[in-house]
Amino acid sequence: MPINLSYESDIATLNNAAQPSSNTDDNYRSTPLLYINSHRIPAHLAALARPNQTLLDFLRNTLHLTGSKLGCGEGGCGACTVLLSRFDKSKGAVVHSTVNACLFPVLGADGCHVTTVEGIGSWRHDANKNGVGSNNSSNITANSSVEETDNLHPIQRAMVDMHGSQCGYCTPGIVMALYGLFAQDGMLPSSISGDNSGDGNHKTTTAAQRQDYLEEHLDGNLCRCTGYRPIWDAARSLVSCHHSEDDLEEIRGPCGVKCGECPERESCEMDCNLESKKQMADVAADDNGGGCCGGSSNSGNEKCCSSSSMDKIQQYQQIIESKHSEKWWDQPNDMFPDELLRDDEKSVHDELSTPLKVMDTSIHNGGTWYTPNTLEELLDLFREFSSGGSSSSGGGIKMVVGNTEVGIETKFKHASYPTMVHPSKDIHTLHDIFSTGDHYRVGGCAALGDLQEFCHSEMTSDGEEANRRHERTAKPIHDMLRWFASTQIRNVACLGGNLVTASPISDMNPMLCSLGATLVLASRPKSDGGVVRRNVKVSDFFIGYRTVEKEDMEVIERVDVPLLQDRFEYCIPFKQARRREDDISIVTSGMRIKLRPATKTDNGDRHWEIEDVAIAFGGMAPKTVMARRTMDALIGKPFDSNSFEDARKVLQDEFQMPDDVPGGQAQYRLTLACSFLHRFYLNCVEELTKDVAADKTEGLSYPPVPLIDDDEECGVGGFVGVKKPSITGLQTYPEPKVAMGLEVEHLGMKDESSDLPLAAVAAAAAKSSLSDKPTKQKNNSVGQPATHASGPLHCTGEAIYIDDIPAPANLLHGSLILASKCHATLASINVEPALSIPGVAGVFTSEDIERIGGDNKVGPILLDDFTFLPVGEKVDFVGQVLGIVVAASQEIAEKGARAVAVEYTDDVEGKAIVSIEDAIDAESFWTDFRHEMKRGGNVDEILNKSEVDGKRLVIVEGSMRSGGQEHFYLEPNSTLAVPSESATNLTIYSSTQAPTKTQDFCARVTNTPAAKVVVRMKRMGGGFGGKETRSVFVATAAAVSAKLMNRPVRVTLNRDTDMAITGGRHAFLAKYKAGAIVEEDGTIKLHALDVRLYNNGGCKFDLSGPVMDRALFHVDNCYFWPNFHSVGTSCKTSQPPHTAFRGFGGPQGLLVAEHIMDHFATECNVSGDKLRRDNMYSLQDATPFGMRFGDGFTGMWNVPAMWDRLEKELDIPGRRQRAAEFNKKNKWVKRGVGFIPTKFGIAFTAKYMNQGGALVHLYTDGTVLVTHGGTEMGQGLHTKVCQVAAQAFNIPLDHVYVNDSSTDKVANTIPSAASMSTDLYGMATLDACQQILKRIQPIKDSLSPDATLKEVAKKAFFERIDLSAHGFFALDNDRCGYDWNKDCPEGFPADLPDNAWKGHPFNYFTQGVAMAEVEIDVLTGDHKTISADVLVDVGSSINPAIDIGQIEGAFIQGMGWATIEEVIYGDDDHTWIRPRARMHTTGPGTYKIPAFNDVPESFNISLLENANNPFAVHSSKAVGEPPFFLGCSVFFAIKDAIIAARGSGGGYFEFRLPATSERIRMACSDDIASECIGSDRDQSSFQPQGSF
Ligand SMILES: Cc1cc2nc3c(=O)[nH]c(=O)nc-3n(C[C@H](O)[C@H](O)[C@H](O)COP(=O)(O)OP(=O)(O)OC[C@H]3O[C@@H](n4cnc5c(N)ncnc54)[C@H](O)[C@@H]3O)c2cc1C
Ligand code: FES
Ligand code: FES
Repeated sequence: MPINLSYESDIATLNNAAQPSSNTDDNYRSTPLLYINSHRIPAHLAALARPNQTLLDFLRNTLHLTGSKLGCGEGGCGACTVLLSRFDKSKGAVVHSTVNACLFPVLGADGCHVTTVEGIGSWRHDANKNGVGSNNSSNITANSSVEETDNLHPIQRAMVDMHGSQCGYCTPGIVMALYGLFAQDGMLPSSISGDNSGDGNHKTTTAAQRQDYLEEHLDGNLCRCTGYRPIWDAARSLVSCHHSEDDLEEIRGPCGVKCGECPERESCEMDCNLESKKQMADVAADDNGGGCCGGSSNSGNEKCCSSSSMDKIQQYQQIIESKHSEKWWDQPNDMFPDELLRDDEKSVHDELSTPLKVMDTSIHNGGTWYTPNTLEELLDLFREFSSGGSSSSGGGIKMVVGNTEVGIETKFKHASYPTMVHPSKDIHTLHDIFSTGDHYRVGGCAALGDLQEFCHSEMTSDGEEANRRHERTAKPIHDMLRWFASTQIRNVACLGGNLVTASPISDMNPMLCSLGATLVLASRPKSDGGVVRRNVKVSDFFIGYRTVEKEDMEVIERVDVPLLQDRFEYCIPFKQARRREDDISIVTSGMRIKLRPATKTDNGDRHWEIEDVAIAFGGMAPKTVMARRTMDALIGKPFDSNSFEDARKVLQDEFQMPDDVPGGQAQYRLTLACSFLHRFYLNCVEELTKDVAADKTEGLSYPPVPLIDDDEECGVGGFVGVKKPSITGLQTYPEPKVAMGLEVEHLGMKDESSDLPLAAVAAAAAKSSLSDKPTKQKNNSVGQPATHASGPLHCTGEAIYIDDIPAPANLLHGSLILASKCHATLASINVEPALSIPGVAGVFTSEDIERIGGDNKVGPILLDDFTFLPVGEKVDFVGQVLGIVVAASQEIAEKGARAVAVEYTDDVEGKAIVSIEDAIDAESFWTDFRHEMKRGGNVDEILNKSEVDGKRLVIVEGSMRSGGQEHFYLEPNSTLAVPSESATNLTIYSSTQAPTKTQDFCARVTNTPAAKVVVRMKRMGGGFGGKETRSVFVATAAAVSAKLMNRPVRVTLNRDTDMAITGGRHAFLAKYKAGAIVEEDGTIKLHALDVRLYNNGGCKFDLSGPVMDRALFHVDNCYFWPNFHSVGTSCKTSQPPHTAFRGFGGPQGLLVAEHIMDHFATECNVSGDKLRRDNMYSLQDATPFGMRFGDGFTGMWNVPAMWDRLEKELDIPGRRQRAAEFNKKNKWVKRGVGFIPTKFGIAFTAKYMNQGGALVHLYTDGTVLVTHGGTEMGQGLHTKVCQVAAQAFNIPLDHVYVNDSSTDKVANTIPSAASMSTDLYGMATLDACQQILKRIQPIKDSLSPDATLKEVAKKAFFERIDLSAHGFFALDNDRCGYDWNKDCPEGFPADLPDNAWKGHPFNYFTQGVAMAEVEIDVLTGDHKTISADVLVDVGSSINPAIDIGQIEGAFIQGMGWATIEEVIYGDDDHTWIRPRARMHTTGPGTYKIPAFNDVPESFNISLLENANNPFAVHSSKAVGEPPFFLGCSVFFAIKDAIIAARGSGGGYFEFRLPATSERIRMACSDDIASECIGSDRDQSSFQPQGSF
C-alpha cells in the first residue's frame, strides 16, 4: 500500500511543517512584523511565515482567514485582493494599495498593515470577533439600510443592496478593491469628505473624475456571474454622492464629448444626454429619485426601475449620508496601527531598522529571505550569493520586488530560489521617482503605480511652455501604464522587474527604448569598496529571448528617461491585446519622432522633415526590438504619407514571421505593426498641427502641415489614452405581483387573482394573460426584487465554500497526477520518488481502487471514463488523471504529483485527432448517438432546383464554426472527503451541481453502499454547467484517498489544472445548404434547410450527445423552415471531455440559424432585419420537432411582438441609417448594429430528469427550513425558493432558510441544470408547504384569524401534528421527453405537426430579443459595445432583480463567448503548442473573460409585461440559460461593422466565432491587412487560425 508514514510519524511531519523559521544571525531580525486587521500577529505565528509563501497562503492556511479567495493564483482575477498599508516616511503619510495576495510574498508585508475583507465589516452582529480582530473599527462599520442593525461596511451594504453578488466568490476581492479605492484621497466629493475648509488637504474632484478613477480601479477584478453592472452601481452609489449640476454636466457620451459642453445638446437624442438632462431636472426639482415604481419608465406607469444609473444609486446615497455620521472612508487610516506610524515616540521603527532574514527550516524548504535596508547591504548580498548559480537555473540569488514574475515562475514553472532579496522601501535610490529637469529618474524598484501617478501629476502643463516637455514625456508613459496589467499588479510590480524579465511582449520596454531611456546598473564588487555604476541604453539591454545585458551581481538602480522637446517631438504608445483591461499585448510599441522644418534643394519648397525617429516593438520578435530598417527608411525623409507608406513596406519586410511562429497570429501581428505605423503618422500630423497653430499665435511661421483626408481623421487615437464613458443603463420590469401558475392545476391551489380554471387559461395562453391583480396577502414575497439570500455573507467573506471549510483534524491535501502526453499507452507509474518526499502521506492509483473492490469507471451517460487511468490503457488527453498524491500541505502534494515517474509507450502524439476537421477526416464519431430530424419534402431534391412554383429559389451554401468556451467559474473544483466509523462511512463536501451523481460515483469507486455516503453542498462559486458532471472525478479521487488513508482529504484544483482537464463548451462546425424563395413583392421566404452539425466532444462522451440534441432543437431559432433536415454528430477527439455549459448546445445551434439569415441577406441584398421578421414563426406554425405555437401547449409566442417593439422603441432602422452615415465619413472606425431574437426550450430533454424533491420543516417559532434537491451556484435559486415558501406560509421572507443540499435530506436528485431548478424545486417546495398548511389548517381555524404562524405551529406541535413534509414535483409526462427514433405511429392525427409523435422536448419557451451597437477599430480589430438593449419574456418573475441579474450575467457571458474568449489547443493551426492536443489557454493570463471595461456603455434590460406562463410555478419562466445567446447580438453587430469596412464588394464571408480582435482586423480586408496576408493567399476568405 503506497502510504509513506505511520499515523504518528505523519503527525510529527505535520508539526515539522509548522516549525517556525529561525536564524541565529545577530545582524538580522528573524521574525517579520506583521499586522493584519489592526492586530499585530503574535511572534509564534509570524515566525511561521515562509520565504516562498504568498500572503494569501499565510492568511488562509496559517491564520485561517478564508475571506480572501484563491481564484487563479496568478494575479489575474482579483479574488484575493487585500489592502496593504504602510507608513511612507518621505510623504509623512500612510499609503494604501490593493495587492493580489496570491502573488505578494507574505514577508514583503513586513512592517505593513494588511486589511482583509474580514477586517472591514461583518454580517455577524459582533464585529469585534471579525477575523484576527478589527479593533475599534467596529464603531465605524455600517449601519444597515434594512431595519436590523448589522456591521456591514457601506461598501458591503451597497453591494448587497444593489445585487452586486451572485455566487459571491469574486465579491470579497471586489469589496477590497473598492475599499482600496476609497482609501485614496480624492474619491469623494468635498461635500461628503467634509473638506469644506479649503485647507487643501483633500483633493476636490468632480463626479466625472471620480468615475474615471473608478473605471480604472476595477481593472484587476473579474466576475463571471453578474455582468458587472450591479457592482458598478454599488460603486457609483458611493462615489457620486450628491450629484451637483456640475457633476451632471460632466457626463460624457459615447461620442466622447461631455454632454454639458456639447453645442448640440438640445437636439442630441443620445441616451446619455437624455439621461443627464433628466437627472439635472431631478436635481433641480429636488426629486428624491425614482426607486421602485417611481423611476423612469419606457412605456407607461406599469414599469419601474430596479436599479439604474441614478434612481437606486441616489436612494442609497441618502441612506449612507443619513446613517453614517462617521467618516467611513477614513477607516483604513483609523485602522492603521499606531505602532507602525513611524514617528520616534511610539513606533516600532527600531525594530524595523534591523534588516530581516528568514530561513525556512520547515519541510517546505523554501530558502532564505532577506530584506536589506540599504543599497550597500543589498549589493553585498548579490556579491555574496550571485556566484551560487544563475537565476535562470533556479540557483543563486533572486531579487523579489512585486513578485508578479517570480511568483509565476515559482508557482507555475516550479522554479526555486535558495536566496531571495526584497529591498526595503527605505532604499530611496531604488524607489524614488523625480525629475531632474532634463530627465525623469525612476528607481529600479519603483512601483509602476507610483510611476503612473507621477506621470499623471506631470501631465498638466496648463499651457506653460516650461511644462510642455514634461507633459508630452509623461503622457505616453501614463497612457501605456493605464493598460498595463491591473491596479493591484501596478501597485507592487516595478519597472526594473519588467526590464529584467525581458518579456518579448513587455509593454514598458518598447516605450523606454523609443524614448531613448538609459539604465543605471549598480554593483559592489568589493566589500570594502564603493558602489560601481554603469549605464546601458535600454535599447541595447535585450540581447535574446528573456536574456539581458546584466551581470548576476548587478541590480538596476534606476532608469533615466530623457524629456522630449517642447515642440515637434512626439512619442505615442500602442498596444493591442485580446482584452483591453489587464491583458498582455499581442503587439505593443513605442514610437517617437522628431520633426524639423526643411527646404527642398531642388525647388525651395518648405516642408517638414523627419530629423529622428525611434520605433520599438514588442510581440514581433523573441525580444523587444527596434525596427531599425524601418527607422532608417524614415530618417531624413519628408514627413508625409508617402514616406510612411514606403516605410510600411520596409516594416513588412523587416518582420516576416513564419506561420508557426511561437504565439501564432503571424499575419495579424504584422498587420498590427503596420497599422500602428499608419496610426502614428496620423497622430503626428494632429500633434504637429496643434504645435504649429500654437506657435502661429506667437507669430512664428512654419511649412504647411501635411493634410489627411477627412475620413482618415478617425484613425487617430485607439483605446490607449482614450477614456471610456461610464456605464449607464436601465433595468425595467413590470410591477411586482403574485401570479399563480402551474400550482393551480398541479396542487389544486386557488388562484385568487383569476376566475379561470387553469386548463382554460392554458388553452387560451397564446392570447390571454392572467390577471395582474396582486393577492391580498400581508407578506407578499413572490414577485419582489429581494436581494440574494447570501449577499451579506458573500460581501463579508463569511460565506463558506468547500476550500474554506475549517480543516478537520488530520487533514491531508491531494494533488492529481496528470498525464503529460496523449495518444500513448500508459506503461508504468513509479510512485517511489513521490513517497520519498517528506510530508507526502500516500500515493494512489487505479490499483488501489481495485484493491478495495471499487469500480474505477465513471461517466454520466456512458461509463467510458476512469477515476484513475489504469496502466495499459491508452491515454486520451493531456492532463488525464492517473492517480493522486496526498500530503501534509498542498504545496508538498503538488511537488509529490510532479515527482511521480510515468512512462508511456506507443507514443503517437503526432497523430492525435484534435479538431472537428481531424475527426471528420478520421471518421472519429460517436455514431450511435447521431441524431437526425426531417420534415417536409426531400431537401436534397428541393435544393437542387432553382425555382419553386415559378418563383426564384436562392440557394446559399457554406459553413460556420464556433469555438469552445471555458466555464471560468471563479471557484475552482474542490472536494473535502471526510471518512468516519473506520472509513465505512464518507461525508463528501463537494463543489458540485450534482450531489446525487457525486454520491453514486463516490460510493462505487470506494465500494461503499450509497446509503453510507452523504454528499453535501452549501454553495458553489459558480458552476455554469462545468460542475454538472466534470466535478465528479475530483470528488472520487478525494473519496478514494480518504477511504484508503482513513483521514480527511481535500482536493482543490489549481486554476490551470481545472481549465486544462475539466472540459468546456463544445466547439461546433455547421455545414449547410439552404434555399429561400423570392416572392413577387421581393420578400424572401425560407424554403428548405439541410444542415449538418458536428461538435467537438473531446475524448469521452460525457454529455456530448445531449448537447448536440439541444443544438438540433435550436438550429431553427425563431424561423419557419417548411422543409427541414438536420443531422448532428459528436466527434471524438484528444481534447478533454467537453461538457455542459450554459445553453447546453442551444447557443451553438441558434448561432447557425442567425448566420444563415445573414448569408441570405447578403446573397439577396435585402435587410437582415426584414428577412428575419418575415420568416418568424407565426401562431399555428410548428417547429421541426413538432411543437406548435399557439395551440395551448407551447404557451404565448411573444417573439414577433417583442421584435416589433424593440425595433420601434430603439429605432433600429434609424440606428442603421446613422451607423451607415457614420461609416461613410470614417475609414478606420466603423459602427454596426446586431439585432437578434431567441427562443429557448425549457425542460431536460431526458424525460426522467424532470423531477425534484424538497423537504420542508416548520418550527414552533414560526420559522421554516427548506432543503431541496437543487444547488446554489449564484443563480439565486435558494432565494427564489425562500420566496415561494414565505409566500405559501404568508410569513416574512427572512423567516425562511434554505439549508445546504444534502443527499441524506433530499435523495435521488438530478443535477441543477437546464435552467429548470426553480420550476422543479419551487413546485416541490410549494407541494411540501401545502401539505403542512393542509395539516395545520384545522388548528388555524381554531385560533383567532390574527394568530401568527408561530402560534399555529406551537399549538399544532402539542396536537401531535407532523410539521415536516417532503414535497415532490415531476413535469407532466406529455410535457417533456423526445424519442428521436420513434416512427410515426399508425393513426397519428394528420392535423398534428410532423414529429409531434416523438414527444415534446420542452415544457415551454423562454423568449427574448436583443440589439447591440458596436464600434470597431479597423486598424487594430479592437471593438467596444456602445449599447445593448435586451427584452426578455421570463413570465411573471418570482424575483425580477435576480432575473435581471441572470440576464445581464448571461448576456455578458454570451458576449464573451462570441468575442474575446478563445480556447486554443495544440493542433494543425497551432503547431507551436507542444505536445499536440495540449490546451494552451489555462489561466486568466491566456484566456480572457469579459472585464469591467467590456460592459456595454449603455446597457438596458427589460422584462416583458403581461407574460404569464401557466406551465411553471407562480407563472414564472426559467431564465439562467436563455439570454446567453442574446450576447451574440454583439457578434452580429461586429460583423455588420466589418461588412461596412469591407465595402460594397465584400460579399458573403464566414465570420467565425469568437470575434477576436485578430478575426475582426483580418476580416476588414483593407490594403494594410491585404499586404500582410500576402498575395499568395485569398484575401477575402483569409481565416485566422482557430481551434474548433
Ligand atoms: C496578472 C499579470 C498581468 C501582467 N500584465 C502585464 C502587462 O500588461 N504588460 C507587461 O509588460 N507586463 C505585464 N505583467 C508582467 C509583470 O507585471 C511585470 O514584468 C512586472 O514589471 C514585474 O515586476 P515585479 O516587481 O513584480 O518583478 P518580480 O517578480 O519581483 O521580479 C521579476 C524579475 O526582475 C528582477 N528584478 C526586479 N527588480 C530588479 C532590479 N531593480 N534590478 C535587477 N533585477 C530586478 C527580479 O530579480 C526578477 O528576476 C503582468 C504580470 C501579471 C502577473
Ligand atoms: S487569486 Fe489572486 S488574482 Fe486570482
Ligand atoms: S458573483 Fe462574481 S464570480 Fe460569481
